[in-house]
Amino acid sequence: MEPREFHWPFSVFYSSLASFLEPGYRDLARRMEIGEEAETLLDLGGGDGRLAVAIARRYPGLRQITSGDISPDMTRRAQRRSDKAGLSSTVSAQRVDMHALPYEQGRFDAVVSFGTLHHARQPAAALAEAYRVLRPGGRLCLIDGYDRPSFATLRQGVRNFGGSLAATVLYWCGSKDCLPRQQIESLVADANLPGIEVVFDEPLAIIQGTKERGKDDMPVQSHAG
Ligand SMILES: C[S@@+](CC[C@H](N)C(=O)[O-])C[C@H]1O[C@@H](n2cnc3c(N)ncnc32)[C@H](O)[C@@H]1O
Repeated sequence: MEPREFHWPFSVFYSSLASFLEPGYRDLARRMEIGEEAETLLDLGGGDGRLAVAIARRYPGLRQITSGDISPDMTRRAQRRSDKAGLSSTVSAQRVDMHALPYEQGRFDAVVSFGTLHHARQPAAALAEAYRVLRPGGRLCLIDGYDRPSFATLRQGVRNFGGSLAATVLYWCGSKDCLPRQQIESLVADANLPGIEVVFDEPLAIIQGTKERGKDDMPVQSHAG
């Protein structure tokens, strides 16, 4: 299977299984270490909005969270989740392609994603776009699997996230498309993004850091509201 967007009915299937992973999304939100000063955040490939909602609850200082996904069904689901959670003034879903984001440079105080990079047709373009729309001084945190973990490793990881055996099977099927560790290392090295590094915490690769301020950077105003 070519890694691509999640069309209906796969989106329904994924969304149903992800519902068992709520503690995992809360844990991810905490791990992403969004600075308290951040007001705007983009979740790339945000799926059905579970992470965006967990982030909104974990970081009440965020005024505007965008859950961006290329799948129309996932986008609808994310908006519905935000509305149901009473967060529609904070979390909005938008249909976007991570390879060509419809935002100006420096638009967001933080850019995050989970399980999205391996869906990119061109991971280098997606990474460059994520960095472009991040403001200098902003936090980048893109988390994805790498290589193909053994079923036992994945089972333990999913269990730590509160997930069921069915969720492990789902992730294990998806993990066959994960990028090899070496490719992720080269991707980050070649991109040469000041302030950004990759760390590996089996079974996850975490591309993270703070975008360095260049000496020519103008202070970028928040566009929220
Ligand atoms: C494995 S799911 C992860 C969803 C969500 N981040 C989560 O953790 O529940 C990958 C998501 O990436 C989206 N996606 C795939 N290609 C994309 C693209 N070019 N631009 C934006 N999103 C994309 C899919 O539609 C899908 O919702």
